[in-house]
Amino acid sequence: MSFKQDVAAEIEQIKKAMGAGVNVSFDCAGFNKTMSTALGATCSGGQVCLVGMGHSIMTVPLTPAAVREIDVIGIFRYKNTWPLCIEFLRSGKIDVKPLITHRYGFSQKEVEEAFETSAHGGKAIKVMFNL
Ligand SMILES: *[C@@H]1O[C@H](CO)[C@@H](O)[C@H](O)[C@H]1NC(C)=O
Ligand SMILES: *[C@@H]1O[C@H](CO)[C@@H](O)[C@H](O)[C@H]1NC(C)=O
Repeated sequence: MSFKQDVAAEIEQIKKAMGAGVNVSFDCAGFNKTMSTALGATCSGGQVCLVGMGHSIMTVPLTPAAVREIDVIGIFRYKNTWPLCIEFLRSGKIDVKPLITHRYGFSQKEVEEAFETSAHGGKAIKVMFNL
């Protein structure tokens, strides 16, 4: 698939999963493709927070995003975000459990499997160890 087809397919998948465009997206990778997907999947008037610093120069469809009044927000190294995040987790305001897709024990074999799953798992989002 071409770059454009990949991005279009990802955007469709996200919109389908969310039932609509999302209000706030976080690009945690920082690549042409992930940022293009974030901009496309975000609804008009929404925000895209660029967390990932994959490359210093990205080629993304910025003009269509600007036409839809999407704000791009930068953040560096999560400064001052930990207390707020910890509070969100503590209070149950956000539930991160659905992001955990796999759990492994801590034997040599399981650790290897976990890294394999993380690298090639396809559907893996967060791979955790049970200690
Ligand atoms: C997204 O934004 C719309 C319009 O402001 C609002 O009605 C809706 O509740 C928001 N969705 C979420 C999940 O916050
Ligand atoms: C981003 O896209 C531009 C234009 O297609 C390309 O020149 C550049 O190499 C891409 N960057 C990466 C990291 O793929």
